[in-house]
Amino acid sequence: MPEAGASRRRIGVLVSGRGSNLQALIDAVGRGDLAATIAVVISNVPGAAALDRAAAAGIETLVLPHRDWPSREAYDEALAAALRDRGAELVCLAGFMRRLTGRFLDAFGGPVLNVHPSLLPAFPGLDGPGQALAHGVKVAGCTVHLVTPELDAGPIVAQAAVPVRTDDTHDTLAARILVEEHRLLPWAVGRVLDGGWRLDGRRFLDV
Ligand code: GAR
Repeated sequence: MPEAGASRRRIGVLVSGRGSNLQALIDAVGRGDLAATIAVVISNVPGAAALDRAAAAGIETLVLPHRDWPSREAYDEALAAALRDRGAELVCLAGFMRRLTGRFLDAFGGPVLNVHPSLLPAFPGLDGPGQALAHGVKVAGCTVHLVTPELDAGPIVAQAAVPVRTDDTHDTLAARILVEEHRLLPWAVGRVLDGGWRLDGRRFLDV
């Protein structure tokens, strides 16, 4: 297992709620499956449970409530500055329920990854599992993608599929998808940090 120290890649994680994907990242780092240091966890929602998970793991937490900033752009610049100040070179959106502008992406400058509970481009936006059930698809899943200013539309790094069962409820389907999110997100973060990839248009490819 790599030593914790200055040479480890520093990542920032943005959250808004429960934080189970954050926990998957914390656990992957702890197991030595993800060679990175989580430098900071930032929530736009005060009191988010994810903050407790970060604190329990000894990770710095920061609450930046978006309503405290006069504009979306001003908020995004403050967020990017907080991440850069802590040496983050990659940002992971782990249940961060707020759109980021191009201003954030430009100001941060590094890769930004998002985990989403659907097989994009199907069912962007809120409640991927609910949209999948309502549409009647037979296969659902999750996606980790690079973030662009368009909602849930950036180049896809990894996807995992799960079957939709006849007796599925929203909760059973969401839980089955979440298991795959927890596996996929740490893998995708490591993949992007490791390098050896390029974009060909929208396609995320090995070099
Ligand atoms: C996850 O299912 C994540 O994919 C989703 O919110 C949930 C957060 O759970 N994100 C989105 O829908 C973003 N469009 P968590 O807080 O337990 O990680």
